[in-house]
Amino acid sequence: MASDISSVLAEDRPDAAASQATLQAAAHADFKQAVLYGLARSSRRLPSRFLYDERGSELFEDITKLKEYYPTRAETALLKTHGADIAQHVGDADILVEFGSGSSRKTSLLISALEGLGTYIPIDVSESYLTEATEWLAPQHDGLTIAPLVGDFTKIDALPDTARGHKVGFFSGSTIGNLTRDEAKAFLLNAAHLLGRDSAFLIGIDLKKSPDILIPAYDDAKGISASFSLNLLTRINRELDGDFDIAHFAHRAIYNEDEGRIEIYLESLTGQTVSVLGRDFSFSEGERIHTEFSHKYSIEGFQALAATAGWRGVTAWTDPDGLFSLHLLRFG
Ligand code: AVJ
Repeated sequence: MASDISSVLAEDRPDAAASQATLQAAAHADFKQAVLYGLARSSRRLPSRFLYDERGSELFEDITKLKEYYPTRAETALLKTHGADIAQHVGDADILVEFGSGSSRKTSLLISALEGLGTYIPIDVSESYLTEATEWLAPQHDGLTIAPLVGDFTKIDALPDTARGHKVGFFSGSTIGNLTRDEAKAFLLNAAHLLGRDSAFLIGIDLKKSPDILIPAYDDAKGISASFSLNLLTRINRELDGDFDIAHFAHRAIYNEDEGRIEIYLESLTGQTVSVLGRDFSFSEGERIHTEFSHKYSIEGFQALAATAGWRGVTAWTDPDGLFSLHLLRFG
């Protein structure tokens, strides 16, 4: 669906206000639909993409700075240490396309390493993030064209016509771990279509490890991870006229060893009835709402998944502790 994707920042266009209103209405309808459907199901769930409203994005930024949350630090260190090697493996690339670019902080390291790069296309649902990232990046990378795309990176079906040339994709932070294996395969197939023949794809993947390290990363001592989850209920209260009592739900992070993934839930601490947009939803004590998956892979396991979508694993870099990996894939 291309209708909820705008190819340039709204403020650059004369029809900006109308188009932004359309985007916002579509996003609201999407949220409403997903929440009413997800709460009505017998196994309740709220899709993780809705965690990132303004407050949620701030809280996630705080998570990335926690001592327990190693992925951001480990990935940043890999980009710093192996930048030149990564650039050599990527080869000639004119255009860098980033899926879910957020603040683009790590990307600056990659842009510096990829010397011949002419254009950077960050894709993110958050227009404010894209504006801020563009303003932060531009002065550091003279001559780089930044062409942001506002939209859900799982739904983008085409890049702008002007985006001609050799492409390299970047999907950082192990964000692909939010997706189930089937969804990740579908994403990788779509990315192959977007990036085209002879493209390269650099993907950050969190590695399987002991639950003693994994669980605290998703359930930290300061309770920031809990606030991040619970903020979704606050968002429902605000945007969908809900009456969730945040004090009556708890954040739960478990490691499902068989599936190789962290699973995050909001657990009802009591029997209670909650109303959203005038509809009632009853919870029994201990009943859970699923909010997130965070899949963990082995190097070989991720390369095998990528191969099912036509991507060849060229090489992978890992930190000395084996916590995190950066994969270079090639298509065609
Ligand atoms: C942004 C999806 C990579 O799974 O590690 C962190 C999200 N959720 N703590 C992750 C998250 C709770 C994060 N990703």
